[in-house]
Amino acid sequence: MPVIENRFRDQVAIVTGAASGIGKGIALRLAAEGAHVALFDLNAEAVQQTAAEFVAHGYSAEGVAIDITQEAQVQEAVARGAEHYGRLDIMVNCAGIVGPSGMPIAEYETAAFDQVLNINLRGSFLMTKYTIPFMLQRNYGRVLLIASISGKDGNPNMIGYSTSKAAVIGLTKAVGKEYSQTGVTINALAPAAIHTPMIDTINPAQVEYMKARIPMGRLGTVDEVASIACWIVSPEATFNTGAIFDLTGGRAVY
Ligand SMILES: NC(=O)c1ccc[n+]([C@@H]2O[C@H](COP(=O)([O-])OP(=O)(O)OC[C@H]3O[C@@H](n4cnc5c(N)ncnc54)[C@H](O)[C@@H]3O)[C@@H](O)[C@H]2O)c1
Repeated sequence: MPVIENRFRDQVAIVTGAASGIGKGIALRLAAEGAHVALFDLNAEAVQQTAAEFVAHGYSAEGVAIDITQEAQVQEAVARGAEHYGRLDIMVNCAGIVGPSGMPIAEYETAAFDQVLNINLRGSFLMTKYTIPFMLQRNYGRVLLIASISGKDGNPNMIGYSTSKAAVIGLTKAVGKEYSQTGVTINALAPAAIHTPMIDTINPAQVEYMKARIPMGRLGTVDEVASIACWIVSPEATFNTGAIFDLTGGRAVY
């Protein structure tokens, strides 16, 4: 993992989904570049283990067991972190699930659809809603939501996922405009398939469908996601808000 020395020195970041995959990779790079990172994840054991790994590297990190669909938990955990450090600079929302895949809508369970929307969309809404006010206190902040190419293209046979990510894109565009006159930016990243534990939960035929559409002919890596994510949430990214950044090995055409 490449590191830009002290890029986030003294900054405070919250990363959700930080016990695995993309969230862990982004959190690690933020911490390695000097940020204090609060690792939010539903998996209590994994998030404490991840925090311990970070601390063993000499980084500043704490694990927070939380369900980002639960409004009271989000409100309380965000406030506790921001008040403890006296600031909040960055929030990256990576918590998410795929839900059913390889499944046409006629067979797709309604309860599964509700669950995917609840985590991927409601979670994004709550994390954004409760972090922005702390960023506004110092008129500086960077919110990054992880959407997906499936939200732009509409991947068939994973309707809950595709729908939730399209909605995250709409949320990002709207909220970006709401705060465009402030120092707080709100952006999203729309990756194609990235090699993480989530990929192993997806129907293999579905993964082949996704990979076949990537002109570079391979999956992306967590380091590649962390690299662009950390630029988007850095002080250097000053003229981008409500934007959906591409990370698809050439798949996206808009
Ligand atoms: N891996 C890909 O190919 C890919 C591509 C595009 C977008 N994404 C998106 O990137 C994000 C991260 O994906 P990943 O591949 O790292 O997945 P992952 O499964 O490796 O990690 C997701 C993490 O989110 C946590 N989580 C799930 N529900 C939660 C909840 N309610 N509250 C708090 N934490 C919760 C899980 O415990 C897990 O640690 C997701 O939003 C995903 O949709 C992934």
